Amino acid sequence: MTQSLITGSYIFAGLCFILALAGLSKHESSKRGNIFGMVGMAIALLFTILGTVLKVTGSEGVAPSGPSWAIIAILVAMAAGAVIGIFFALRVEMTGMPELIALLHSFVGLTAVLVGWNAYLEVPLADSTGLHRGELFVGIFIGAVTFTGSIIAYLKLSAKMRSKPLMLPNHNVINLAAVVVIIGLTVWFVLEPHLWQLVLVTAISLALGVHLVTSIGGGDMPVVVSMLNSYSGWAAAAAGFTLDNDLLIITGALVGSSGAYLSYIMCKAMNRSFISVIAGGFGSDGEITGDDKDYGEHRETTASEVASLLTNARSVIITPGYGMAVAQAQAAVADLTSKLRAQGVEVRFGIHPVAGRLPGHMNVLLAEAKVPYDVVLEMDEINDDFPSTDVVLVIGANDTVNPAALDDPHSPIAGMPVLEVWNATTVIVFKRSMNAGYAGVQNPLFFKENTMMLFGDAKERVEDIIRAL
Ligand code: TAP
Repeated sequence: MTQSLITGSYIFAGLCFILALAGLSKHESSKRGNIFGMVGMAIALLFTILGTVLKVTGSEGVAPSGPSWAIIAILVAMAAGAVIGIFFALRVEMTGMPELIALLHSFVGLTAVLVGWNAYLEVPLADSTGLHRGELFVGIFIGAVTFTGSIIAYLKLSAKMRSKPLMLPNHNVINLAAVVVIIGLTVWFVLEPHLWQLVLVTAISLALGVHLVTSIGGGDMPVVVSMLNSYSGWAAAAAGFTLDNDLLIITGALVGSSGAYLSYIMCKAMNRSFISVIAGGFGSDGEITGDDKDYGEHRETTASEVASLLTNARSVIITPGYGMAVAQAQAAVADLTSKLRAQGVEVRFGIHPVAGRLPGHMNVLLAEAKVPYDVVLEMDEINDDFPSTDVVLVIGANDTVNPAALDDPHSPIAGMPVLEVWNATTVIVFKRSMNAGYAGVQNPLFFKENTMMLFGDAKERVEDIIRAL
């Protein structure tokens, strides 16, 4: 009974995970998707623990009569994990989510490394099969790259480390050489295993993870986030093979393939090939690229001027960016939207695929503020509508509305599709200063004739406009 019950529960949990992914693909069904994910994970945990306990006691389908050390260890680990998880979940701001996710990916990578090393310690090399050795080698490789890569991503996303790409001479050759050495070591380890090979592959993979992500520029971080998400899935799948756990293989493969697809979407959104992202160097940090060019003078406006512009407008598009998340302006923006709609103004949102710091960052914020889903459109759906729009409110967005991406072939973000807000009659940019966005690139939009800057915290400025309406 135990094994078939565990297998059945794993199939059910696997189905829940597939339904979770399907649910998360649309705003309307995302809550349902989350619930499926939670139910699937609860079932997976419960039956994995039951299976472990039964295996540990050696009994066939009978739970142990008294608590064994295995149960106590599992319960203590779960309680500690739950306390730490709840503590961070309650404390983290929406703007801190990307780095928290990167940190969580690093745990998955570290786990895969530890599972691989544990498998090595459990089964003496002489008694292990070639397949088993291959699995644990691959698991350690993917896990170690994910572990250190995610830690560097965490440091870059939390601004604890400059996101300017580290460009060592021949950095692509270094990456390639590391991969070739790892493949060679894998074959050697499968045929003739030695402990030093395992130590060497762990060290090279840890270093490769650091080098891969330090070489990637700020502008490419969206792809890196989804790429590490995918790696963490494959690391979990590799751990599943080593532990002989079907559900971990299924779950890892689901995360790995959906992360890979997300990386593809991100690459497409930024008009970059995956290889060129790995090759690194897109965007910079610190110094503002293009700052030496003379774009002319920018013009400033006031909240009451913007309020009267909006009152007289027929159509308005709001393009939010990372600054809306920093200012936590989404509720005020939603309030402004409903007030304008009540006055008969058509208000829609244009969302760039890499706006903010997380895939879907803006959609999450707007959903939280209860902005109706049908007025929130993707970049491709809205880009042709700017010429017939009276007013565009650029709320804390910068790189994603930068015309240099299309006009300047030498710009570090050249080729990235952007929201073409400058085609509207009037553009109002909400930001605190003339500073550059995440990619460190100056934005010629701010100096265009039909653009006016509304300086200050985005939430405060939007509230000023609401008061002035
Ligand atoms: P950014 O280019 O990052 O610009 C955000 C702007 O918001 C800044 O210019 C900043 O100007 C302004 N701002 C910050 N706090 C503000 C506040 N309290 N009130 C008003 N304005 C404020 O934003 P974006 O257009 O959303 O572009 C996203 C960038 O992040 C892209 O380069 C993208 O590649 C990168 N990225 C994205 C992701 C994902 S997955 N979406 C992940 C990592 C990196 P001031 O400082 O002058 O106020």
